[in-house]
Amino acid sequence: MNERETLRINEKGHLELGGADTVELAKKFGTPLYVFDEKHIRNMLGVYRDTILEEYDGNGLVLYASKAFSCKAMYIIAAQERVGVDVVSGGELYTAVQSGFPADKIYMHGNNKLLRELEYALDCGVGTIVVDSFREADILDGLAAKRSKKQNVLLRINPGVEAHTHSFIQTARTDSKFGFSVADGTAANITEYVLSKNNLRLKGFHCHIGSQIFEKQSFVLAAAKLTEFIAAIKDKTGYEAEELNLGGGFGVWYNDEEPCLGLSDYADYLKAIINEVKSCSERLGLKPPFLVIEPGRSVVAEAGITLYTVGAIKDIPAIKKYIAIDGGMFDNPRYALYQSKYTVLLANRADEKCTEKVSIAGKCCESGDLIAVDVPLPKAESGDIMAVLTTGAYNYSMASNYNRNFIPAAILVKDGKADYIIRPQTYEDLVRNDCIPERLK
Ligand code: LLP
Repeated sequence: MNERETLRINEKGHLELGGADTVELAKKFGTPLYVFDEKHIRNMLGVYRDTILEEYDGNGLVLYASKAFSCKAMYIIAAQERVGVDVVSGGELYTAVQSGFPADKIYMHGNNKLLRELEYALDCGVGTIVVDSFREADILDGLAAKRSKKQNVLLRINPGVEAHTHSFIQTARTDSKFGFSVADGTAANITEYVLSKNNLRLKGFHCHIGSQIFEKQSFVLAAAKLTEFIAAIKDKTGYEAEELNLGGGFGVWYNDEEPCLGLSDYADYLKAIINEVKSCSERLGLKPPFLVIEPGRSVVAEAGITLYTVGAIKDIPAIKKYIAIDGGMFDNPRYALYQSKYTVLLANRADEKCTEKVSIAGKCCESGDLIAVDVPLPKAESGDIMAVLTTGAYNYSMASNYNRNFIPAAILVKDGKADYIIRPQTYEDLVRNDCIPERLK
């Protein structure tokens, strides 16, 4: 098990997170349940924020990439930790605004932002919009003109950096739906196009090379390529970008095949990026740009665990032993989507030796509804509390009501105290938007 600061096994042999006994949490709040450790989230935001402060004279900003886990409490924590946020939809923006998050510290992304999302962003006073198509530049310029505004924008650049991660979460290969390619000249063309727009103010460039990346070299290469792009544009047009946003993507521990990083390792990633931006800027005669990073997964993934109750157990001799839980792909679709490997424990018998290999099955009506395959576990019995680790990122945010199951509640724990941050759904919630046309009555 990856010993995080606030994850441990207590005297009763129970898994404890944030000072709270997870078996007690399961009893009190029911399962399935997302549990988030507040301290871990604050530590992660703090380490990125302080590294920019100490290593780059505070000439930058950390944005929490809220697609990883979006709810009002998260935006409040981000504001308290003095970081900005990035949003990728009207829904995330609405949640941030509802939580009282300052709009000028919100960045809006999206490869196909809807007209209504752009209008809403302008009306909220979103600080920066990251433009990702010529069409969007036209629409945004028009909307800003109508409001007699000059909107700050960045351009999403695709530097063609290959990062070693699942192909679905690689985002900056030349074949990508994201960004403007440097290689084919589109990135230079959109820059000149946006510079010619009266109601757009180009602050600089953005790139995001992918997610769950551990190679420092990929981040450093992206930093170098983008700084070189700033220099090339300056040579061509005289325009020198003042801001460089290098996205997120730092990897996290899910299982023992992956490295387990501590706070200082994440600081080292950022230091390597900062050093590259500094040295490239100096070499190319540029003023070091305002540096923005957008970590999502690394902020919340390891802060979160999901608790389940074991139900049916099916042993198919010489094939597989299935342990079924009260959750499934509706609260965590990541095995079904990416074959992600999770670490699974029995929270009520966390100190027992693993004696068998089992597969964890969800309760949805399809065979692919699995959470983990062939993972070690002590002999599980119906009623045991199961904990799946590292579920804080892209679990709740990708959850659905498939089979009209409830999306689980989320609680936030700190120093043994636990509170809802997302309340449990009810049957009433599930039918709230259903309508019955007259002719069916
Ligand atoms: N900035 C941009 C523009 C992004 O597209 C992303 C993630 C981030 C920042 C944050 O990256 P992170 O630090 O979280 O790696 N659903 C997938 C992950 C998709 C990530 C999409 N973009 C998964 O469950 O693995």
